[in-house]
Order: sequence, then structure tokens, then C-alpha cells
Amino acid sequence: MEHPLNSIRHGYLEVICGCMYSGKTEELIRQLRRCEYARQNYQVFKPVVDDRYSEDEVCSHNQDSISAQVIEDIYDLYRHLRHDTQVVGIDEAQFFSDDILEVVNKLVKNGRRVIIAGLDTDWKGRPFGPMPNLLACADLIHKQYAICMVCGEAATRTQRLVNEDKDILVGSFRVYEARCRRHFDPDLSFLQKPPKNPPPLRPV
Ligand code: ADP
Ligand code: TMP
Ligand code: MG
Repeated sequence: MEHPLNSIRHGYLEVICGCMYSGKTEELIRQLRRCEYARQNYQVFKPVVDDRYSEDEVCSHNQDSISAQVIEDIYDLYRHLRHDTQVVGIDEAQFFSDDILEVVNKLVKNGRRVIIAGLDTDWKGRPFGPMPNLLACADLIHKQYAICMVCGEAATRTQRLVNEDKDILVGSFRVYEARCRRHFDPDLSFLQKPPKNPPPLRPV
């Protein structure tokens, strides 16, 4: 069967989603490298909040990277957008405001392929920022899975490992790990707090 997007000659929206470590950034980088073979001009954007591995690159957890334009606000994208850009990649889309949908729809209407990568759920398991809206409007969705660090099954959730209840907390290893639904417990991060008066260790 022919892929539905093969017949699309105009723009379209592709969303890559999943929990942390599921390979969203790797897949985004892979798709953009394929554009090079297709001789298509692309640009990559990421929000300023993500300063984990590099300030001017989109980086995966296993150190693959591609250069990117950092933007503070999704409307900043227009300031940097080149007229001949055919493919627009955006990483960490969960950190942008709901306005991203309007911007993306305009890019698609102008005939561009837009590839969004972002976390679909946050540390509490709730839909994250504009991701549900982007998913609802996507022409193509890639759902990625990580490996649960407890049981080795497919992971769809991100377990926060530190006692911090801010919704936005940039980090990676030792701060978050991938978990399956069964081993995901959003209340657990509060249990990581060291007890004030730890009970004496009981001899076994
Ligand atoms: P994402 O952007 O979805 O957080 P990345 O594409 O940056 O993910 O990184 C994916 C890489 O993370 C994997 O190829 C693997 O090397 C590494 N990794 C670390 N922990 C896990 C895990 N629990 N499950 C799968 N991959 C993991
Ligand atoms: P990643 O999906 O590419 O690994 O990046 C996700 C980023 O989002 C990482 O910096 C941690 C951050 N994050 C939050 O700010 N809040 C959350 O609830 C979760 C799960 C992740
Ligand atoms: Mg990533």
C-alpha cells in the first residue's frame, strides 16, 4: 500500500512523541539527515530553556547532534526562517506555548514539512503543554518507546527521581528515568526526600 504522505505535495505536520529516552531526538535527527539526501533545505529550532547538552545544537542522550537555532518564543521562529527552507524541525516542543499550533499551521499552509519532537506526558503523567493539540492536528505520528528501567518492558512514562514539584525541570540521567505504566509512580519523587530523622538500621 502506498504511504499516505507519498501523494502529498503540499506541507504536512509530523509529530514524534514519547517519554524521555524513547529516541525522539534521534528520530528527529534521522529524518533531517534524510532531507540532506533529498536535497531539501531544513532548519532546526529548540527553546532556550533546553540548555542540557549544547546551546546551539539539538542533542540526543547518546550524544548525536545537529545544529539548531535557539528561540525564546515560538514567534521568534519567523525572524530566523529562511524563505527557501522546505523542512522545519522543532525539538522539545512541550516547552512552547499553545501558540505553536498557529505557527506550525502557517508553516504547513506555506507548503513546508514540519517535524515536531516533544514529550507527550510530564512527570505526573499529564499531557504536556501544546503536545496534545499538536498530536490532534498531525498528519503523521511517530510514537517512540524507551525501556523501563525497572522491568525492561516498553516504557511510556517518565519517572522523576528527585524531590522537586516544578513542572519544568530540565535534566536527564539521575533526574529522570523511563518507566512502563506499571512501574510509574508520580508520588515516588517525593519519597526520595531524605528523612529528617532516619530510623536506625535494623539488623537483619
Ligand atoms: P529522547 O529525545 O526521546 O529523550 P534521545 O533520542 O535523546 O531520546 O535518546 C535516546 C537514547 O537514549 C537511546 O538510543 C539510548 O542510547 C539512550 N537511553 C538511555 N536510557 C534509555 C532507556 N531507558 N531506554 C532506551 N534508551 C535509553
Ligand atoms: P527529552 O525528552 O529530550 O529527554 O527532554 C525532556 C526535557 O524535559 C528534559 O530536560 C527534562 C524536561 N522535563 C520537564 O521539564 N518536566 C517534566 O515533567 C519532564 C518529564 C521532563
Ligand atoms: Mg530529546
